[in-house]
Amino acid sequence: MKRVKIVDVLAADAVLGEIVVKGWVRTKRDSKGFSFLEINDGSCLNNVQAVIDHTPEIVAELEKINTGAAVAVSGEMVESPGKGQKWEVRAKTVRMVGFADAEAFPLQKKRHSDEFLRSIAHLRPRTNKFGAMFRIRSEAAQAIHEFYRERGFRYVHTPILTGSDCEGAGEMFRVTTLEPGAKSIEEDFFGKQAALTVSGQLEAELMALALGDVYTFGPTFRAENSNTPRHVAEFWMIEPEMAFADLEDDMELAEAMTKGVIRKVLEKCADDVDLFAKWVDKELMSTLTTILDHDFVRLPYKEAVAILQKCGKDFEYPVTFGTDLQTEHERYLSEEKFKRPVIVYNYPRSIKPFYMRCNDDNETVAAMDVLVPRIGELIGGSQREERLDVLEARMDEMDLNKEDYWWYLDTRRFGSAPHAGFGMGFERLLMLITGITNIRDVIPFPRTPRHLEF
Ligand code: 4AD
Ligand code: MG
Repeated sequence: MKRVKIVDVLAADAVLGEIVVKGWVRTKRDSKGFSFLEINDGSCLNNVQAVIDHTPEIVAELEKINTGAAVAVSGEMVESPGKGQKWEVRAKTVRMVGFADAEAFPLQKKRHSDEFLRSIAHLRPRTNKFGAMFRIRSEAAQAIHEFYRERGFRYVHTPILTGSDCEGAGEMFRVTTLEPGAKSIEEDFFGKQAALTVSGQLEAELMALALGDVYTFGPTFRAENSNTPRHVAEFWMIEPEMAFADLEDDMELAEAMTKGVIRKVLEKCADDVDLFAKWVDKELMSTLTTILDHDFVRLPYKEAVAILQKCGKDFEYPVTFGTDLQTEHERYLSEEKFKRPVIVYNYPRSIKPFYMRCNDDNETVAAMDVLVPRIGELIGGSQREERLDVLEARMDEMDLNKEDYWWYLDTRRFGSAPHAGFGMGFERLLMLITGITNIRDVIPFPRTPRHLEF
């Protein structure tokens, strides 16, 4: 007999006959003469109910089956007389596949705090909330690939091991095969300093200047020692890069992508998103529909500073031209002032990396950040400096060793073209879609300072 996934059982239009379902027991209830098992197999939020008439063998098997056990149930799929589900299984056989000790199993019926569940990240995907989260995560990733594919972008793979620091912020994890105490870097695997990438951008640029429109979607690593609800040391980033494009094109793409992915997830994961709207953030649906129904605000950095200076809020960090916006400022703009996503652009060049294109005012660069309610920065991007002389001057100014970037500069020597791109933090997008406020709860196994389990 063929195993049927519970999502297909519950969504069936007509009975499927004799079926086998396999999954984990959420609850077991015993009555006189029969028992109920609620079984979940992770294919969807809902459980299937199995009704099991007692026979001496079945009672013996049921005795071993507690909450958390893995089971296989075969039987007839029938219309459910109970409320809330269309179908149930009238079991003929019940088999325990994997035992779970009733005393020791940490996921009993009551609701657990996020903090507690974080301490058992290996089991939390078996809860409704985290099952829903990781199904949404999967759908969102697919939606991103579809979005770019529909627009003719090529999916490129940029390296994780790297010899260059894209953001120049010195937040890289070193990679080495040297034993502690080894004398020279010459002996190391690559014969030079190696690190985990903080961004695939530089390599994505090389590919865009050959294939046109590309994107990369992979893990990135940052050793910033900030224990905030919005930072992890390992996160996933989506980085599109477009040849023959400017900052305007970049902002348009960022807005279209944000909306496109949210729309697709709402369509594909209605039940799972609903759970978050009910239990996590009562305003989730209105936040998401506001994002979908309005244009993002476009706000030059200078005007953003003026607004922040005049708003009368008591910020922890004061704002002046030339300071980077802090999360409190970013949230004020998107959450309170405009109540929707805001794209701040033309940042001072003094606070931005070397690759951003200098504007004619010589004071700002063609950079943009997309700020969203509750989170702050969701996306950071820019038009890239395509003029060789300007780029070299800028690298000198920032004390970067141009020889290390000879390949990057080569693309400006041979057929340079205006181009632009951005990076979206995938976890931040998931926080936006689910209303979850701690980034540790949108990635299965979070890496943060002093925390490296599994
Ligand atoms: O603004 P960032 O640093 O931009 C770049 O890395 C560019 N090279 C991207 C590009 O233009 N191709 O990072 C981009 C996004 C941020 O807006 C944020 O959403 C996310 O990556 N991000 C993090 N997410 C989780 N944890 C961290 N430590 C993050 N650092 C950045
Ligand atoms: Mg940024």
